[in-house]
Amino acid sequence: MRRLYVETYGCQMNVADTDLIFGLLGRDGFVMTKSPEDADVMLVNTCAVRDNAEQRIYGRVGELKRHKRKGDVLGVVGCMAQRLGADLLNRIPHVDLVVGPDGYRALPELIHRATAGERSVDVDFKSWEHYEDVPPAQDGRASAFVTVQRGCNYRCTFCIVPMTRGPERSRKLIDVIREVEQLVSTGVTEVTLLGQTVNSYHNGTHDFADLLRAVGGVDGIRRVRFTSPHPNDFTPAVLEAMADVPGVCEHVHLPMQSGSSRVLKRMLRRYDRDGYIDCVERLRVAMPEIAITTDIIVGFPGETEEDFLETESLVRTVRFDGAFTFKYSVRDGTPAVKIKDHVADDVAGERLERLIATVRQVARTKNVGLVGSTHEVLVEKQARRGELLQSRTRTNKVVLIEGLPTLIGSYLHVRLNGTTGSTFTGTSTAARRELAVVG
Ligand code: 5AD
Repeated sequence: MRRLYVETYGCQMNVADTDLIFGLLGRDGFVMTKSPEDADVMLVNTCAVRDNAEQRIYGRVGELKRHKRKGDVLGVVGCMAQRLGADLLNRIPHVDLVVGPDGYRALPELIHRATAGERSVDVDFKSWEHYEDVPPAQDGRASAFVTVQRGCNYRCTFCIVPMTRGPERSRKLIDVIREVEQLVSTGVTEVTLLGQTVNSYHNGTHDFADLLRAVGGVDGIRRVRFTSPHPNDFTPAVLEAMADVPGVCEHVHLPMQSGSSRVLKRMLRRYDRDGYIDCVERLRVAMPEIAITTDIIVGFPGETEEDFLETESLVRTVRFDGAFTFKYSVRDGTPAVKIKDHVADDVAGERLERLIATVRQVARTKNVGLVGSTHEVLVEKQARRGELLQSRTRTNKVVLIEGLPTLIGSYLHVRLNGTTGSTFTGTSTAARRELAVVG
């Protein structure tokens, strides 16, 4: 019996891809292990989106060398593997395999060869590859990711993803539905549809609106989420489907990147400040309770103090529920490499600090306003802290509640009692009652 250890970095699609790898290699007789010490094969599923992600991975791959016994295999897969290809083999002598996101089907064969001492690289794009026949790994949780689209056809000038994940292609609607039905049969009630610009999904005559309606219509599905959409792909039909389909949750992660039209243009985001505001307004008309989170980059080449202030002001205008904030990181091979006027690192760092403070303040004000209200939550897991359980509202707010672990996977109504500014504590009468009976 061969044991497989996989460590995952980066986005949700990488998490889903790791499940795919487990599915593929499980079929080949591998069993999963949670510790690299007793693994025969160690894979690191990587991210290339920023340099610090890659530096961390170099460090980690260096550490994993310790656990590599004779005959063991160590592979780097995912976006960094795709970006660096054979270079990575040259740079790290103890790495046996370098496989990009379209090459996982070859893993059993390449691992076999690596065991015999042959190092290999597979970074070819396969635009047809959806891993349609690979059974998704199931771990009994109520929530699952479903990849509906791979690759990206946008060309945002800062972004490496088109170079690491290749051109956009969508799965057939019928195949997605089959997978969702299969997940339901294992106890899944919430799905998150994944794609780089997920709402540009289209296959044959079906668009993302059709997909939302079809997934929301699967018996047993209570919640439908999706990530990440592009502002330009919220067509009237998609907004209508979001409003109509009861399962579609009131949350959208809508990457804004910058609040300055000048910077957005240089980023080739294909919308300007007003276009972004317009998208937010249309989302709020379609779903009045919708929570909106975002991604923001500071220090993009040419960003002036004035541009940055526009970003801060857009955060206040939109009143985001939360944001991931990043300092711009130059990626070789992206169009932005050629843009002059680099922002000094200390200036970018200082802007990032100010932005984080603004985002926190805006989110806190919103969240404080929610204390006292009641929400449906899905109980996800035991919280890291103490005896509490972690649950999530439809608006994607994390709520810690008291209750027995047997509640994991169930839906409850909770009253929000307090907030740290970002997460909540809440109570569910039903969960309390059960605790009292046991207690
Ligand atoms: N530098 C900094 N942040 C980046 N992102 C993508 N590329 C870069 C880069 N070169 C951020 C964007 C994107 C998120 C996933 O990562 O905000 O939405």
